[in-house]
Amino acid sequence: MLKEAIATRFITPLREGGSLPGLVEADDHGTYVIKFTGAGQGRKTLVAEVVAGELARRLGFRVPRLLTLDLDPDLGLGEPDERVQGLLKSSGGTNLGMDFLSGALGFDPLAFPVSREEAGRIVWFDALVNNVDRSWRNPNLLWWQREVWLIDHGATMIWQHNWPGAEKSAARPYDASDHVLKPFAPDLAGAAADLAPRVTEDLLAEVTAEIPDAWLADEPGFESPDALRRTYARPLLARAAVVHERIEGIK
Ligand SMILES: Nc1ncnc2c1ncn2[C@@H]1O[C@H](COP(=O)(O)OP(=O)(O)O)[C@@H](O)[C@H]1O
Ligand SMILES: [Mg+2]
Repeated sequence: MLKEAIATRFITPLREGGSLPGLVEADDHGTYVIKFTGAGQGRKTLVAEVVAGELARRLGFRVPRLLTLDLDPDLGLGEPDERVQGLLKSSGGTNLGMDFLSGALGFDPLAFPVSREEAGRIVWFDALVNNVDRSWRNPNLLWWQREVWLIDHGATMIWQHNWPGAEKSAARPYDASDHVLKPFAPDLAGAAADLAPRVTEDLLAEVTAEIPDAWLADEPGFESPDALRRTYARPLLARAAVVHERIEGIK
């Protein structure tokens, strides 16, 4: 289960992000990035963060630790910025938290070295979860302690927004032509050989068990949070075996 904490003070919005994540202090005295249930596509974005982030971590990628942050919407009362105030007020309950990598730099492909092997692993993973948010315009990679860290998986698994069409959607190819790591000659075959066999039913059950019930409850067509968890796992299991042959835009 993800660690749980209670947000006690809103520190500042993180202006770079489109969804306006913020920085909060919590009851354990930690400082965390918070991503709000009230933002954009709401809780599904946060489910995607947990599934993709926890899967990536188990496949050996560096991902900031995730946790849940319980938020009292009254924390927004003193906020001068109306957008921030609105977000806080509409995000009462369980939100996503993440360790704040203090001093991290945005990834710059011209400044930081990435091996063929690592580039291949990241592109393969992004293809698996269909991450459309790792372009050179918007890399969502951080450079921290001389290593690459993966963040922002809210725009992955687009099929979760239309379950009846999910199987078809999940069978589609992945266009990597804008991927920020394309210039590093990603070794996709090597990545697939190592990673694909590790994406098993058991691993996906472990990963989807991390999704908080609160973000799965009352999804139309599903009788329980666990039924929905299994539905999240299925396209990933099917895709893992074949996705490296469906990556386009990289030779
Ligand atoms: N864990 C973190 N540690 C340090 N900075 C972060 C962290 N998460 C996000 N940021 C900063 O906040 C920005 C926005 O976060 P991101 O998760 O990409 O949100 P959005 O969905 O709005 O794009 C990032 O580009 C990065 O600069
Ligand atoms: Mg982002």
